[in-house]
Amino acid sequence: MRVLVTGGAGFIGSHTVLALIEAGHEVVIVDSYINAKPSVIPRLEALAGKELEVHAFDLCDAEKTDALFANAAQAGAGFDAVIHFAGLKAVGESVAKPGLYYTNNLGSTLSLLTAMQKHGVTRLVFSSSATVYGDKAPVPYNEEWDFLNSSSPYGQTKVMIERIATDVAAVSEGWKVALLRYFNPVGAHPSGQIGEDPSGIPNNLMPYISQVAVGRLAQLTVHGADYPTTDGTCERDYIHVMDLAAGHVAALNHLDAQEDVTRAYNLGSGTGTSVLDLLHAMERAVGKPLPYVVGPRRAGDLPAFWADAARANAELDWRTEKSIDDMCADTWRWQSQNPHGFPEE
Ligand code: UD1
Repeated sequence: MRVLVTGGAGFIGSHTVLALIEAGHEVVIVDSYINAKPSVIPRLEALAGKELEVHAFDLCDAEKTDALFANAAQAGAGFDAVIHFAGLKAVGESVAKPGLYYTNNLGSTLSLLTAMQKHGVTRLVFSSSATVYGDKAPVPYNEEWDFLNSSSPYGQTKVMIERIATDVAAVSEGWKVALLRYFNPVGAHPSGQIGEDPSGIPNNLMPYISQVAVGRLAQLTVHGADYPTTDGTCERDYIHVMDLAAGHVAALNHLDAQEDVTRAYNLGSGTGTSVLDLLHAMERAVGKPLPYVVGPRRAGDLPAFWADAARANAELDWRTEKSIDDMCADTWRWQSQNPHGFPEE
């Protein structure tokens, strides 16, 4: 298939681009570079062994988005599917700047869906998040849970986009949509050439730990050790980005074989790992102890959640293969070889 990957220069997008190419698909990337560096592209090209078609603009620009689809169709190279990763993703920033998040994440998606409808592109894989389960769903999270909600504007954009895509698909003939709810993506490509490169001080656990390991940050603060969990720290379902990328390829293949369908899938391992267990796994990968202190709880954090991944296992014939130790080893390879992330141009 010829697949348009929005946000294809980002963390999950870039790994998925490689997985798609490896599976024999043709890929076109569109990325605004608001949250990614252009220097990821030559690395992707080296790993893929071919040149990539990349368009640098913001999907909120509806005219440019429409022109991308129109030009592709005119050249006889229209898209068969879209994988939509593009969007702002910092939870804390979204609380401070809700207007920015709603405008950007919803605006870009509406441009995209409009262009897809107009140009007859009927397959969509959307990058959703476990955050849509809110704070009331029973653990493990199951896709049957109907009361989607999220505590942050970032998370609400995921809830809303799932709804918008579902509604548009319902009135658009032949549409097939997979809503992929990621748990906690970590890890990096085993080559060490691409990985997660957050701007500023990381908010998420794994990039924080790996920046402590490489000496960019002094110590980890564990946000609370008095939760009702095995060791008192929060438990999450960490998933290797390579497994996640494979989940997108599996979803695309599955959609291809379906009639009109919109379906949500949890992409997770089905197991919880505590903050301290992840830290200790990283210590094993790095080969030295990593400094940490226990601080107060972080507002909004849930004690523990993980995926019921049975639906993705059965319907997509997909499951996670990489262990916590693989996630740490690959993260460390990337971080130690690229202490400051991707080079600036
Ligand atoms: C967060 C977002 C979620 C988003 C996901 C992307 C919140 C409330 N949720 O999930 O919506 O989809 O990132 O991956 O922000 N921790 C520390 N010290 C740190 C950083 C984190 O102890 O410096 C702990 C947190 O308290 C949490 C765990 O590590 O228990 C994981 O945190 P994080 O990586 O930020 O992910 P989530 O909060 O699960």
